[in-house]
Amino acid sequence: MTDTVHKTMGQQSGRRSWAEPWKIKMVEPLTMTRREDRERALTEAGYNTFLLRSDDVYIDLLTDSGTSAMSDRQWAGLMLGDEAYAGSRNFYRLEQAVQSWYGYQYVVPTHQGRGAEHLISQTAIRKGQYVPGNMYFTTTRLHQELAGGIFVDVIVDAAHDPSDLSPFKGDVDLAKLEQLIREQGADNIAYVSLAATVNMAGGQPVSMANVKALHELCRRHGIKLFLDATRLVENAFFIQEREAGYQDKSIAAISREFCSYTDGAWMSAKKDSLVNIGGWLALNDWPLFEEVRNLVVVYEGLHTYGGLAGRDMEAMAIGIEESMQDDHVRSRIGQVRYLAQLLEDWGIPMVMPVGGHAIFLDARRFYPQLAQGEFPAQTLAAELYLDSGIRSMERGVVSAGRDASTGDHHYPKLELTRLTIPRRVYTQAHMDVVAESVKAVFDARAAARGLKMVYEPKYLRFFQARFEPL
Ligand SMILES: Cc1ncc(COP(=O)(O)O)c(C=O)c1O
Repeated sequence: MTDTVHKTMGQQSGRRSWAEPWKIKMVEPLTMTRREDRERALTEAGYNTFLLRSDDVYIDLLTDSGTSAMSDRQWAGLMLGDEAYAGSRNFYRLEQAVQSWYGYQYVVPTHQGRGAEHLISQTAIRKGQYVPGNMYFTTTRLHQELAGGIFVDVIVDAAHDPSDLSPFKGDVDLAKLEQLIREQGADNIAYVSLAATVNMAGGQPVSMANVKALHELCRRHGIKLFLDATRLVENAFFIQEREAGYQDKSIAAISREFCSYTDGAWMSAKKDSLVNIGGWLALNDWPLFEEVRNLVVVYEGLHTYGGLAGRDMEAMAIGIEESMQDDHVRSRIGQVRYLAQLLEDWGIPMVMPVGGHAIFLDARRFYPQLAQGEFPAQTLAAELYLDSGIRSMERGVVSAGRDASTGDHHYPKLELTRLTIPRRVYTQAHMDVVAESVKAVFDARAAARGLKMVYEPKYLRFFQARFEPL
């Protein structure tokens, strides 16, 4: 593990530039479409950007999940795949990488993050128990609910306010958590579910002080603390930048210290770890891990491959190491900030401070004329696509789904459209195109009329719902 803080070349001299610590070896052509092509494609997709064909998309900012460009070392690693059914050498490389970079003892691979969420939810939640967390995430909460758990949001209030500039809007409000423990009893709490960074709040980080205090609170009450480590290295960047005492610590050292306050973690390696598929679940508690290791063979595959090919595990082990390098994280977030600065200069409403993986446009302030039930964020995603073939994603009332007990829509305070930046994929010039397109859609905002939902699937409706213009 490296403890050296490697800045990008410009930053070493205190300059603004954040350029990437890599150069491009292979390119993938993009499709240019005309407005009438995009109108046809969007109608066919039911105004849902998840239902577009990627061939109809120019700049794809739907997600940073599984969309990273792998390095030449990772591609070379694919050739070292040991496709044995049991005991693949790539599993041991992955296990070692998780142990040394994240610090947990026992590891199972999973096909992606939600495979790990399923395993931890089924083994660590008893029906009727509460699962407090720092804001919901779609798949995480659904797996907790399917296991009989009741999710309770205990994030700080600032997280629900897009213009609140607090530096750690992902923090858990310890008073809210203590109140839940007092009211329901520690025994009725399955575990605390902590995400770093918090995707649905706009990629907002959790401070080291908060996770330390949370660890202490959980220890006092005998409650386990599990981490969603999907974007932990981005969280570590914000700690390094904003929290006293961490400026000279490396991303790797900060990430490892953060994990040391938790009892285990699940991971979608499709984000931080720079692979197109993969995940893992890691724990320090052997009896719980034994249950997980038993369940993984039912749903994913043997505990030494968990639904992945040997080559995928090799690419993930290499990606973990690459993801922890300071110059990589700095340039990744540098690119997100470059786009954010252009938008801010043009007065575009968005969640501030800008997080690590995406810009979250504030659709309520784009379209004050639309009620939340007319799906402002979904409308904004549609308008952006029509303008220039940029694909974004709704993170508002559609993503929030319905209350499992009442059947009503959840109406989240945040009604956002996410421009998610894939890692190592697009150039600064692409960011310029995106900024100009957002500006054009913002300038035309008064004409937007909203959407109605005409098809709604039962689970995670944002993936497959269909809409029509009002
Ligand atoms: C914070 C967070 N947790 C979990 C997941 C689920 O991971 P996956 O998509 O790999 O199943 C995601 C994916 O978007 C995520 O952003």
